[in-house]
Amino acid sequence: MNIHILTIFPEMFQGPMSSSIIGRACQKGLLSIEPHNLRDYTKDKHRQVDDTPYGGGAGMVMKAEPFFEALTELTGSPKQKKVGRKIIMLTPQGATFTQKKAQELATMSEIIFLCGRYEGIDERVRQTWVDEEISIGDYILTGGELATMVIIDALVRFLPGALGDEMSAQEESFSDGLLEYPQYTKPATWQGMTVPAPLLSGHHEQIRKWRRKEAFKRTYQFRPELLRGRSLSIEDQILFAE
Ligand code: ADE
Repeated sequence: MNIHILTIFPEMFQGPMSSSIIGRACQKGLLSIEPHNLRDYTKDKHRQVDDTPYGGGAGMVMKAEPFFEALTELTGSPKQKKVGRKIIMLTPQGATFTQKKAQELATMSEIIFLCGRYEGIDERVRQTWVDEEISIGDYILTGGELATMVIIDALVRFLPGALGDEMSAQEESFSDGLLEYPQYTKPATWQGMTVPAPLLSGHHEQIRKWRRKEAFKRTYQFRPELLRGRSLSIEDQILFAE
């Protein structure tokens, strides 16, 4: 997958996008991440990327031109839609990002993220180029850069070969609509606290059942709304009847 990011702060991506699992995915060739400096697409000598809003008001608005220039270079024209390519704008008005969306985006071959700053981006960019608008939550960030990194971090886990253990993205919280069961590691007793007996049993079926029950308990305790409208599978009904 090729990821392009249009931003006025390309340096923000340097460390986070070259460390750990994301960095390794890039090294393995599963992913390329290319930030583009919007100032490189300005035509005036001050390399101006923002201006005052029409109608007045506080703050600055990001100009349409640098986005148009960069997007034209990357894609050709707004009419040249390509299967597998998405142009995404980060904005608090977008649809809230979810695990399901991360999984869907991981199937794309190319994503172009548009990062706004200040009071946002000239509306004509959204009208002309944007396929999708995404928010990472109901709060206002200083720009779309951190939101872009959050999305990349979540989607990279779904790229085949990115995680050491192929199963783990599927087994995680939310993939089956439940929070994750508690985890323990050695020693079995620490400061008087012991690891639950089923986990020490070595009995796979017993461990699986204990984990499934704990996942339901946790979800009920911390995020009961995730269980609303959910019906128990026959297997889970048997588990709870035991
Ligand atoms: N830009 C500013 N706030 C944002 C948010 N919550 N999500 C995505 N992009 C943003």
